Amino acid sequence: MKLLEETIKKDGLVLNENVLKVDSFLNHQIDPKLMLEIGKEFAERFANEGITKIITIESSGIAPAVMAGYHLNVPVVFARKRKSLTLTGDLLTASVHSFTKNETNEISIAKKFINENDRVLVIDDFLANGQAALGLVEIVKLGGAEVNGIGIVIEKSFQPGAQILKEQGLRVESLARISSLGNGEVTFINEKVEALI
Ligand code: G4P
Repeated sequence: MKLLEETIKKDGLVLNENVLKVDSFLNHQIDPKLMLEIGKEFAERFANEGITKIITIESSGIAPAVMAGYHLNVPVVFARKRKSLTLTGDLLTASVHSFTKNETNEISIAKKFINENDRVLVIDDFLANGQAALGLVEIVKLGGAEVNGIGIVIEKSFQPGAQILKEQGLRVESLARISSLGNGEVTFINEKVEALI
């Protein structure tokens, strides 16, 4: 997605070879117009999947997921990383290990928000090692529903997440695919191909 790639180039900050900081439009301050376009792009890519619900994880998945839900006209549910006062009753829970942060979180969604007839689109902001997405997929399956796609805003293609998900037969659509964060610079997968032509 061109607008997203341009924004990453302009406003993203390469912290090191593994981490891209995008807190001026996605992870802290949020650019609503960009989110709206991101939601539209997800809606177009998954238009033929008969999606009935979007599942994401707090906090940075929520903005793109809500915009996709707006365009697909389906509800959005976000998994919580911590127990909350109102998150009571039957829960669907999965354990998610973050290699980046070296911590494990229990993530949960109330059972009543997923039903057996749901065709679910899982959305998240970053795809690195794939653990968050796998946790969400597990929760959807526990709820007896089907995952019909994974939508990612920024995929770090040099990390194994995308491949792990695809090997499970999941359709992964990433709007920006980064092949490298070397030399303090963001390189996208399509850029590498274009450079070879
Ligand atoms: P994984 O889910 O793909 O296995 O990713 P990982 O454990 O490596 O990532 C844990 C957290 O770090 C996630 O956010 C993920 O979005 C974020 N993350 C991973 N790589 C990057 C990166 O290069 N840049 C930025 N900005 N974030 C990255 P989280 O802890 O769930 O945070 P939030 O959603 O509350 O913001």
